[in-house]
Amino acid sequence: MIVSILNCDKKYGIGKRNGLLFSLPLDMNFFRETTLGHVVCMGENTLLSFPNQKPLKDRTNLVLSQDPTHNYEGVINVHTFEDFLKKIKEYEKNDTVFIIGGASIYRQTLPYVDKVYLTKVNADGGAEVFFINLDEHPDFKLIEESEPVMDGDLEIKFTVYQNMNKKEI
Ligand SMILES: NC(=O)c1ccc[n+]([C@@H]2O[C@H](COP(=O)([O-])OP(=O)(O)OC[C@H]3O[C@@H](n4cnc5c(N)ncnc54)[C@H](OP(=O)(O)O)[C@@H]3O)[C@@H](O)[C@H]2O)c1
Repeated sequence: MIVSILNCDKKYGIGKRNGLLFSLPLDMNFFRETTLGHVVCMGENTLLSFPNQKPLKDRTNLVLSQDPTHNYEGVINVHTFEDFLKKIKEYEKNDTVFIIGGASIYRQTLPYVDKVYLTKVNADGGAEVFFINLDEHPDFKLIEESEPVMDGDLEIKFTVYQNMNKKEI
C-alpha cells in the first residue's frame, strides 16, 4: 500500500520558507508512530528541511533530487521520477510505503497512492506551498474523520481519504 501522510491548514497550505507551518506535537507523534519501521519517500527539499538535514531514523529513506551529484548519506538516492516510482513499486511488494513530501512530490505521486492520511489544522498558517484540495478532487473520498482535538493551542482533525481511481505503477 502507498500512503501520503501530511498536515495542512484551512487553505490546504503545507509549508513556508522550506519549513512546516506549525509545531504540532500530537501530530508529529502520529507521524512517527505510523511511519516507524517503514519506507518514507521524499523530495530533496524535504530532506533538507529536517534537523541537521539528516534522514529519519529507523526508516528506509528514499530521496528524489534532480541533480545527480546530490547524493546523501544514509538514504537511497534517485534522480528521476521514473526511478523514484520504480523503487516505490519494489518496496510496496513487502511494506507500506509512505510519501512524506513535499508539495511537488505529493502532487506527482497522488495518482498512485491508495490513501492520504491528512491532518487538518483549523488555522491559516500563511503557507507558500500547497497540497491539492482533496474535497474537490473527483478521485478522493473522505473515509475517516476524527473528532477535533487540541494539539498545543491548535485544533486539529485526523482524516483519511481513499483514492477511488488508483493508478498502478
Ligand atoms: N505539512 C506537511 O506535512 C509537510 C510535509 C513535508 C514537507 N512539507 C513542506 O513542503 C515544502 C517542500 O516542498 P517542495 O515541493 O519545495 O520540495 P520537495 O518536494 O521536498 O523536493 C523537491 C525536490 O525534488 C526534486 N524533484 C521533484 N520532482 C522531480 C522530478 N520529477 N524529477 C527529478 N527531481 C524532482 C526537485 O528538483 P528540482 O527543484 O531541481 O526540480 C527538488 O530538488 C517545505 O516547506 C516542507 O516543510 C510539509
